Amino acid sequence: MGLSTFKRSINQISERLKTRIVLALDLTDHDRTTLSTRCIDILEGVSPYICALKLNRPLVLRLCLDREIKNLLERAHDFGLVTIMDAKLNDVAHTNLATAVQYFDAGFDALIASPFVGWDGGLDSVFREASTRGKGVILLVHMSHKGAAEGYGQTVIDIKTGRERPQFMIFAEKALAWDADGVVVGATHLEKITSTRAILQGKVPIYSPGIAVQGGSAKEAVKAGADYLIAGRAIYNSTNPTESARSIRDEAISALERN
Ligand code: XMP
Repeated sequence: MGLSTFKRSINQISERLKTRIVLALDLTDHDRTTLSTRCIDILEGVSPYICALKLNRPLVLRLCLDREIKNLLERAHDFGLVTIMDAKLNDVAHTNLATAVQYFDAGFDALIASPFVGWDGGLDSVFREASTRGKGVILLVHMSHKGAAEGYGQTVIDIKTGRERPQFMIFAEKALAWDADGVVVGATHLEKITSTRAILQGKVPIYSPGIAVQGGSAKEAVKAGADYLIAGRAIYNSTNPTESARSIRDEAISALERN
């Protein structure tokens, strides 16, 4: 199983820039021009310390996909970064595909999807489209919030074996079987990062959100096995976003070096 275009790109960028930080630019503002300008200003300031830009649905809904979002993605690419759409795709295949095509056409390099919908008639169409276009698909394996226990944290009967298994471990195995470009495991569940790592064996990188504001630690997440850290409010709400990005970058890199 070779490295996909997206996996290779983010790996090369993070090696070159010596950073494992994915910026979650979840800004809100009623005024579209102000919002767009703030996004570009923060991106410019933190770009030396991040390897990827992740956007969420509220930002894409407020701005125009074909104008401000495209422009923001182009700026990110100009800085040598890759871009991820936090689409959390969770529908039937034709709707997932139509959504993915729009994000990929706008310039996103990868998107995040939910494995709860399964392969056949769920995410099969998205993986095929992504593979044809050299784009990436990142799967949620275990989210960071408390309520994640009700879904990702359940113990279920594995339909293949009839045995009881943790749901998130089955998702991690699917990520491997489907050749996903990454998985998301919250930094608030360190032991789940480690168990996921044991299943993925470094073949599928782990993206970990939930640091700082949600109580997760960048250092501990990396020590537990995270490859990339997703950080939003700790950076863009800081009085000095550039300095905050640099400090999280340094914490992650020093934890990696000691691993
Ligand atoms: P903050 O501001 O908490 O933003 O650094 C995290 C970003 O990651 C997205 N995201 C998640 N966040 N647990 C999280 O805490 C998850 O499992 C998760 N999955 C994705 C979140 O929407 C925000 O953009």
